[in-house]
Amino acid sequence: MTFVVTSNCRGCRFTDCVAVCPVECFHGDGEMLYIDPDECIDCGACVPECPVEAIFDEAQLPKAEEKWLKLNAELARNLPVIAEQGDPLPGAQKRKEELGF
Ligand code: SF4
Ligand code: F3S
Repeated sequence: MTFVVTSNCRGCRFTDCVAVCPVECFHGDGEMLYIDPDECIDCGACVPECPVEAIFDEAQLPKAEEKWLKLNAELARNLPVIAEQGDPLPGAQKRKEELGF
């Protein structure tokens, strides 16, 4: 089991999730974050922290977001750990509104 970052994170990267993760399993590029499934302990703490509801338990992934399970695992492996909260991406607030949050 793991938790998965999905498409709403892209272009937002609010990083509130990182601040509560006890095991530093978030990795990131310039667009979004990804969870390393080998490190995630399934605590669920990150889910309510995301202002755009981008994080799901893999067992509850919406159909349209299923591709992110594999992508998180693949991409997290080769990207740096993001262990500290930082500024959201420029345009994150606008994207958040567009997403309906
Ligand atoms: Fe980190 Fe827990 Fe979220 Fe997994 S479920 S990414 S361990 S905060
Ligand atoms: Fe992305 Fe939400 Fe975390 S926007 S960086 S999953 S708080």
